[in-house]
Amino acid sequence: MSLKGKNILLGICGGIAAYKIPLLIRLLKTQGANVRVVVTKAATMFVTELTLSTLSQEPVCKDIFPDLFSAKDDWTRHITMGEWADAYVIAPATANTIAKLTAGMCDDMLSASFITLRPNKPKLIFPAMDGEMFSSPSVQRNLFWLSQNGCTVVNPESGDLASGQCGTGRMPEPETIAKMIAAAVASNQQDSKLHGKSVVITAGPTREKIDDVRFISNYSSGKMGFALATAAAARGAQVTLVSGPVHLQTPHGVNRLDVESTAEMNREAKKHHASCDIFIGAAAVADYRPAKAASGKIRKKHETMGISFVKNPDILAGFSKQKKPHQLAIGFSLETAGNLRNAKEKLEQKKLDLVAYNTFDGKTSGFEVDTNILTLIDKNLEIRELPLLSKQEAAEKMLDAIEELISSDKKTSDE
Ligand code: C5P
Repeated sequence: MSLKGKNILLGICGGIAAYKIPLLIRLLKTQGANVRVVVTKAATMFVTELTLSTLSQEPVCKDIFPDLFSAKDDWTRHITMGEWADAYVIAPATANTIAKLTAGMCDDMLSASFITLRPNKPKLIFPAMDGEMFSSPSVQRNLFWLSQNGCTVVNPESGDLASGQCGTGRMPEPETIAKMIAAAVASNQQDSKLHGKSVVITAGPTREKIDDVRFISNYSSGKMGFALATAAAARGAQVTLVSGPVHLQTPHGVNRLDVESTAEMNREAKKHHASCDIFIGAAAVADYRPAKAASGKIRKKHETMGISFVKNPDILAGFSKQKKPHQLAIGFSLETAGNLRNAKEKLEQKKLDLVAYNTFDGKTSGFEVDTNILTLIDKNLEIRELPLLSKQEAAEKMLDAIEELISSDKKTSDE
């Protein structure tokens, strides 16, 4: 994906994460983008106009009123900026600016050019603030509204915050933001094959009860499924995310259904079998469950204890069995390294259109970590090996492959 010749309008608000933006500008420029920067007054407390204009090779915009004494100044800049941009990126987006954008206020250049942005251009918002601020009802309400109104809101990451606390609020690194901008420009919502499609995604682990206080589960964090939900919603899909127990924020604009056991996940997923266009099984579903969960708490009596297990329903295979020709079934195949053959077998057995083979090494790929190494195999046995990517980037690549399948299926049915 290239940003060559694309016009990126970059809005910077007054948050400490603004210190990362000069690097983002460099990355965008290296990819051939034209970058113009708009700052709020507070942003200039964190990063200087000189730095921003030197890197973007453009004057930085701050004041809504033009310089009357400059013959060159554009007197209707707040409109021409909105017309010029192929995408508007606000990073970091503070609670104050988020509230202003939601209310439609335009008392500075950043908020005014947000309103004048041409319809259907990608709007990416990267909130970054203290964890408590981020989860406050007003910020969450405003972000929800923005996500319902054509903005892609990218949830902040967890980690150390400038407040000295640890929590959700960190802006993603410039490399991740640059890749998301490139993906958004390349798959502009309206042009995306996923626009308006109904996508169901299962994510996370399941819990299978042994008794009322114990269960069997696995290390799945749900990050891959949630990344897919974020990316699909950004491409204009209507996303239903059926999630096992995870510690993740619901991606904006996504309908989330929380479940615990495989039986519950299956029940919720089945409700969408007939109506969805694409079913993605990203959940690490328990293959077996205890035949009978004991009521109360099993007492400690004997030296050994046996539990008898029964097989769980295969949720994804259940979808494939009844799927109509226009519907796509996508799955994952977590294998020990080198077992690509197992993944191909799964593709055939479960009648999938695409399978993502991945291994688990506990460091770069598989459960819990933020990165993944996937190999995508489609129903025509075309193989695409992806490098080590963040789960968000890997999700984008998977959706690109799904969009290609939609295009090739359409071509075949048109012939
Ligand atoms: O058979 P295996 O568990 O390796 O298959 C993995 C794929 O099938 C994943 O996409 C997973 O979400 C899905 N699956 C499922 N229901 C199961 C087991 C796996 O949907 N019971």
